[in-house]
Amino acid sequence: MDTDNHALRILLGISGGIAAYKAPALVRHLLVRNAEVVPVLTPNAVRFVSPTALQAVAGQRPRTDLWDDDAEAAMGHIELARWADAVVIAPATANLMARLAAGMADDLLTTLCLATTAPIFVAPAMNARMWEHAATQRNLHRLRADGVTVLGPADGEQACGEFGPGRMLEPEEIADAVIARLATPRSLAGVRVLVTAGPTREFLDPVRFISNRSSGRQGFAFAQAAHHAGAEVTLVSGPVHLSTPAGVDRVDVVSAQQMKDAVIGRAAESDIFVSVAAVADYRPHQFHEQKLKKSQQPSDEFRMALKENEDIVGSIADVVPRPFVVGFAAETENALDYARQKRERKRLDAIVVNDVSDPEIGFDSVDNAVTLIHAGGEVALGKMAKRAIAQRLVSEIATLYAARADG
Ligand code: CTP
Repeated sequence: MDTDNHALRILLGISGGIAAYKAPALVRHLLVRNAEVVPVLTPNAVRFVSPTALQAVAGQRPRTDLWDDDAEAAMGHIELARWADAVVIAPATANLMARLAAGMADDLLTTLCLATTAPIFVAPAMNARMWEHAATQRNLHRLRADGVTVLGPADGEQACGEFGPGRMLEPEEIADAVIARLATPRSLAGVRVLVTAGPTREFLDPVRFISNRSSGRQGFAFAQAAHHAGAEVTLVSGPVHLSTPAGVDRVDVVSAQQMKDAVIGRAAESDIFVSVAAVADYRPHQFHEQKLKKSQQPSDEFRMALKENEDIVGSIADVVPRPFVVGFAAETENALDYARQKRERKRLDAIVVNDVSDPEIGFDSVDNAVTLIHAGGEVALGKMAKRAIAQRLVSEIATLYAARADG
């Protein structure tokens, strides 16, 4: 697609579900990412969101009807289908997905979808049971087979009060996913990437555990960026409060031992392993089946024996075939020196180090600043959002991986 000479042109299809009220926000998120947006509403979508509001944010007249002579005179629907660099349908209702899967052209939006050669993205939004229905799943399968990119849905509370899959991804996530796919080269196309993220919890008894401050954000951002770059991503996550990035396969674990089992079982089938997780170094020597009582302790001083957890990333060097291995290091002093040593000790292809003594970056913050150290050199990435760091790291790691694969 040649988009060098103009902003990305997006036809934003809106079908008739409650999530349509988020469409103006999605328009905004696309515009700030330098896209040009023409909203196209189905007749039912007009019941949920006003074309006037969309016109105000998009700065373009929304299209609602195939039989609107004025609009057709200005730009016919075939012309509109050719104009688009991408069609993004958000929300995509069960009905819209069914019509699209069946190849129908019974309104302006579905007609445009048939007439365009541009990539089509859909962000489904519906009641969880409608999503899980065999008919919807069949349509989903059909759409994917037809080359449509499906974004989400997310899991969570729904407008109908139920919980489950079917929530539309947030407008910002949709805009990020679309722009990333259209704008970035697919540097990891077909590459299998295994990522760990978040903390681990090491239980002493049923109610107490040892853990750390990791939020999981950097690992999740990396998984998302790798997916956008075309990788098949499996994300092994400790307990975090983050939703799964669209298109990423997630495996939840709690303890370091569970994380190790999940990783070891998948490492040989992975091309790249990226260990972002803050794995607890120690676990209580003994797990007590029942809650420990204060009265059981001999004095006012409580001593807990700890046992070292196995080093997950360090053990990957012995896996055959060995994936390309990238570790992370959070340091509070001598960051670069410690990281260089850690890379050698753990036999890593590369290590990403950040200085967590600065409260503006690292642990719970949105931003980060890191240095990527590999056998052939070091790349410093100054302070930026974890999402942006993740995109840069993906492209650096893709280059290193390709060099190794060639060599
Ligand atoms: N790591 C791991 N398994 C462990 C501990 C750490 O896979 N049991 C991985 C982390 O995911 C990270 C890298 O090792 O990619 C470095 O983690 P870090 O905690 O900084 O290293 P430690 O081995 O704990 O070194 P030190 O305590 O000396 O800082």
